[in-house]
Amino acid sequence: MTKPRLWITRRLSDATLERAARDYDVVINHEDTPGSADELVTASAEFDAIIPCHSEHFTAEVAAKLDPRLRIIANHSVGVDHCDLPSLKERGIVVTNTPDVLSDATAELAMLLMLGAARHAVAGDRIVRSGQWDFWSPSFMVGKQVTGARLGIVGMGRVGQAFATKARGFDMEIHYFNRSELPEVQAKGAIYHSTVESLLEVADFLSLHCPATPVTTNLMNAERLALLPKGAVMVNSARGALVDESALLHALKQGDLAAAGLDCFQIEPGGNPEFAAHDNIFMLPHIGSATTRTRDAMGFRALDNLDAFFAGETPKDQL
Ligand code: DGY
Repeated sequence: MTKPRLWITRRLSDATLERAARDYDVVINHEDTPGSADELVTASAEFDAIIPCHSEHFTAEVAAKLDPRLRIIANHSVGVDHCDLPSLKERGIVVTNTPDVLSDATAELAMLLMLGAARHAVAGDRIVRSGQWDFWSPSFMVGKQVTGARLGIVGMGRVGQAFATKARGFDMEIHYFNRSELPEVQAKGAIYHSTVESLLEVADFLSLHCPATPVTTNLMNAERLALLPKGAVMVNSARGALVDESALLHALKQGDLAAAGLDCFQIEPGGNPEFAAHDNIFMLPHIGSATTRTRDAMGFRALDNLDAFFAGETPKDQL
């Protein structure tokens, strides 16, 4: 039987690429450059399946031009805001994602961002590294303590729950906003808020874990940032679209927010150059799921979805 033709748009983990080469007639973009709209359209006439990352944008415009040969887009990501799902559905193309397997890695990174932002990691690292550490005082680099503080989680899905588990290790009082209240077996004592606004009022630390959708775009705007307690710390390891970056910068400059920890930006790659001058913004380049174990698991999950599809089954993560 001929193997389905598969295009892998980016340099996935070695274990993933080996398995893909064993089971598919695969072409890998070893140059590891993001696939442009034109490349996606061209590939759709040559391949039965594509494994893209969030760097490949299947917009409505691209979806309309895709060749009917392409039957499945098996994303190597949990987020699918780079895919216009209704348009792809209309074209009869199956779309899958990779939930679950990256929750712990992303929650670990959110914890790093929260601790780093709260304890002056940017300035502290710089002054030691640059040989400028020539002074110590009890009032030097005094940060905000995480242990026992109130944590607000927006989006109590898999990653939000994994983050809550880690935050319990710091004895944090956990509050959350979610579209629906979780059963107690999942909430594990976390306090539900039926509106984001009521959550913000108690969030000394705030961590965003919801998807980017038209409803959540600029969720953290000037009005909502103003509801946070003075000196709060905000963390975003979900998507840049959730935060109005000008409003965030203003709140930080005013001292209303003490610090922010960001792994995601409105413009990626690149981030926001205006943030660079601010030591109280601890930044990383969208690497929440970037651990060896998780990259293998994401690749295998995407391949599991493809295997199921080509075996005539419904993929586990079909959206
Ligand atoms: C995801 O899986 O959505 C991560 O942001 C990496 O793409």
